[in-house]
Amino acid sequence: MNAAVSALRSQFPLLAAAPGLHYLDSAATAQIHGAALDAVIRHETTCRANVMRGTYALAEAADRAFDAARHSVARFLNAGSAEEIVFTAGATAALNLVAQAFGNTLKAGDRVLISVAEHHSNFVPWQMLRERTGIELALIPVGADGVLDLGRLPELMGSRCRLVAVTQCSNVTGAWSDVAAIVAAARQAGARVLLDGAQAVQHGPQDVRALGVDFYAFSGHKCFGPGGVGVLWGRAQVLAALPPFLGGGGMIGEVTFDNTTWAAPPQRFEAGTPPIAQAIGLAAALDWMMTLDWPQIHAREQRLGELLIEGLQRIPQLRLLGPATADSRAPIVSFDIEGLHPHDICQVLDGRNLALRGGHHCAQPLLAALGVEACTRASIALYNDETDIQALLDGLVEVQRTLT
Ligand code: ALA
Repeated sequence: MNAAVSALRSQFPLLAAAPGLHYLDSAATAQIHGAALDAVIRHETTCRANVMRGTYALAEAADRAFDAARHSVARFLNAGSAEEIVFTAGATAALNLVAQAFGNTLKAGDRVLISVAEHHSNFVPWQMLRERTGIELALIPVGADGVLDLGRLPELMGSRCRLVAVTQCSNVTGAWSDVAAIVAAARQAGARVLLDGAQAVQHGPQDVRALGVDFYAFSGHKCFGPGGVGVLWGRAQVLAALPPFLGGGGMIGEVTFDNTTWAAPPQRFEAGTPPIAQAIGLAAALDWMMTLDWPQIHAREQRLGELLIEGLQRIPQLRLLGPATADSRAPIVSFDIEGLHPHDICQVLDGRNLALRGGHHCAQPLLAALGVEACTRASIALYNDETDIQALLDGLVEVQRTLT
């Protein structure tokens, strides 16, 4: 095994304990880094108390740790301030938060533009909003390679587009969206931009200000942190203008029988007890990520993507989905083998200690556009190396031998 990767793998408790595992499902859930796990355990065993409520020393220590976590996330995203960071239960909760809170500012006939390549979490909430309010929902199409086709963007936005909500990177094809072009067109139309960063965050720190978007959503479990926590970043003045989504403790200014006033963001959007230990664990994962040599990691991830794509292209009856080369996609590679169901493929691969996801990947509109009902997906992260790719290519030889 590559020495750099071996050093990385040793920092992930599950991978360290399972040397023979070829984990190629990081797009579904990345493995948790030891520092994140330690931070959760340390918090729960030395600092556990509710936040923003207690005045005793333990509660104040929990407040400080939670506040520090918010600052870590802000650094990871290059946010304008920690007040722009809203902790949620995950990316899905963050996207639903925007669909509800921003959605409540929209009127019938206003338009939201999403894309065919969205994960269901950035598709269904907008359909629900359409049902509830009569907004119009429009779709950016994809080309045969699954890449967003931005040719008709101004026309798709029309005159009443209020929001463009798109993925930064497809969870099926790995194709990157041309965020700069989308932001430029949205600005022309006076629309806000929401970026679903769920698949991008495990490939390095982000710069929301350089991206130029208004909202950014991601999950902790996809960037080496714990599950049950996610983030919605919103530009300060945009968050300040939004009504709350959930009502409850922590999000209020004052409550009387007749009226309730709202706390300022981010608390306005964090009703109830937030995922405290999870946020602290996430911050530890992001702090660790910010110490890494990302150009080197990207070069390795891309090399592995190329190796995989080249190997897959040699397999008969196999159709590669998404861009034909690794340089225009994150290292997420999905494929279809004629006549074989992805669940059967994954089962044979599982027998060889290969973990891959098969199915519709919560992206049925994209799969329909690509002409398949289901596919098999290999997703590569910083702890993978050539041995994982070779094991997959060898495993697919066995798949064809046993299933055809
Ligand atoms: N969004 C996750 C995936 O693509 C669950 O697998």
